[in-house]
Amino acid sequence: MKIKNICCIGAGYVGGPTMAVIAENCPHIKVTVVDLNAQRIKDWNDEDLSNLPIYEPDLAGVVKIARGRNLFFSTDVEKAIHEAEMIFISVNTPTKTYGVGKGMAADLKFIELCARQIADVSKTDKIVVEKSTLPVRTAQTINTILTSKQNGVKFQVLSNPEFLAEGSAIADLYNPDRVLIGGGDSKDDQLAVQALFEIYNNWVAKDKIITTNLWSSELSKLTANAFLAQRISSINSFSALCEKTGSDIDEIAQAVGADSRIGSKFLKSSVGFGGSCFQKDILNLVYLCRQFNLPEVADYWEQVIKINDYQKNRFVKNIIYSLFNTVSGKKIAILGWAFKKDTNDTRESPAIYVTDQLLQDKAEIHIFDPKVCAKQIYSDLEDIQIQRKNIYSGGLQVLSINAIRKMVKVHNNPYNALKDSHAVCILTEWEEFKTYDWKKVYKNMLKPAFLFDGRGVLLKEAINEIGFNFYSIGK
Ligand code: UDX
Ligand code: UDX
Repeated sequence: MKIKNICCIGAGYVGGPTMAVIAENCPHIKVTVVDLNAQRIKDWNDEDLSNLPIYEPDLAGVVKIARGRNLFFSTDVEKAIHEAEMIFISVNTPTKTYGVGKGMAADLKFIELCARQIADVSKTDKIVVEKSTLPVRTAQTINTILTSKQNGVKFQVLSNPEFLAEGSAIADLYNPDRVLIGGGDSKDDQLAVQALFEIYNNWVAKDKIITTNLWSSELSKLTANAFLAQRISSINSFSALCEKTGSDIDEIAQAVGADSRIGSKFLKSSVGFGGSCFQKDILNLVYLCRQFNLPEVADYWEQVIKINDYQKNRFVKNIIYSLFNTVSGKKIAILGWAFKKDTNDTRESPAIYVTDQLLQDKAEIHIFDPKVCAKQIYSDLEDIQIQRKNIYSGGLQVLSINAIRKMVKVHNNPYNALKDSHAVCILTEWEEFKTYDWKKVYKNMLKPAFLFDGRGVLLKEAINEIGFNFYSIGK
């Protein structure tokens, strides 16, 4: 079966770049990316490529080649489903904020909605590909919905989880460590697996495309993310011990990472991991384990999240203690809002948590990020208040939108954010922070001036020499 027409539902951080790379490498296939969010589609179609809704190195170049040729962005979901032989589902699966599994389970309402829409609209056979990270056995749910119409249309459901990391999405898509395709055993299922295999094989070598059964494929994504997040929580747990003992976390990481069985990647200690996947997927894994009555396994993985929360908390406490036990009315500059460098994605970014905690202690916050806009920053801070209302109880205040607007200012120029501040916190590892004139920054700050590096961006000796009171994680 040769695919000529692909539809992808969800023009987000995964759907957008993935489809752009498929379209570029497969000029013989028409790829239409659809989204309910009309503004997002408008931005994807913007003449000016610097207005694409997602910032990702090299993405604009790929879009430039394929857009209008065989890559299209549209809000007409039904038409795109109708025309396609293969439909990727790449909608978001956030953590549930209500009812059963609140705060842990993956919310599959968007997935269900897509499946229902595909079932309603389809007049010809379709291959439906799960791209979103999903709890194991979701393919069965999708299949049940798709086949419920009994109108003679045949559906094959495949799992093809995306392993790209934001900030390196295009490079990861071009040159993946592996592509994973999971499918059923029937002849039709295997033909569907083969069809997707051939699409990737246009630019990915055969030996890098792994085929498995559906459930292994679904669970592999959660397993990979759990392993990666666990490494960060493991190294971060040692960062606290380093600070008590005079050991240096980067030296430890180098020594430990040199062991090829352990390896050097994902050993950078930080204020904690963020992003749309790690926290969500691990909470989801914990929930899944509890559902299958495996409490010990659930507790084990929950600890990875607990260490991540502990690390963010520890960072904030350290700021408050260092600033003589209060930050009330003090000006604190935050450099970096994205969850990591080279992306404008802010989901679960430690910066949100750290800022919110500082606001609870009545600090005045001045923020600069090279790629995140003010609107996004305010909306993140407002969302965490809503979450607090919904999920957490405890003694933390719910801040009003007005209070947030009063206490938080977002700057377009880093030096303005830093001027007259009591302290600076680096919360994203943007390369440009290394190039700032730190002597000038120091001169324009209130004394004693504090610098808290949550990402290991700056060199301790150089910063101490300038006169800062410098804190870097695990040192
Ligand atoms: C998503 C999932 O969160 C992640 O688990 C998975 O691995 C990949 O897909 P991402 O692409 O980063 O990640 O999400 P996001 O940037 O939020 O994009 C999802 C898009 O789907 C949004 O633009 C949203 O408007 C759209 N959407 C959502 C629909 O078009 N229809 C829906 O019913 C729901
Ligand atoms: C992750 C997985 O890497 C990817 O394979 C999966 O498909 C989606 O989830 P992503 O969330 O884009 O990708 O970013 P990643 O590079 O994994 O970083 C996640 C978080 O961990 C970031 O906040 C990052 O700053 C932090 N991190 C990463 C560390 O603190 N230390 C490290 O050594 C590595």
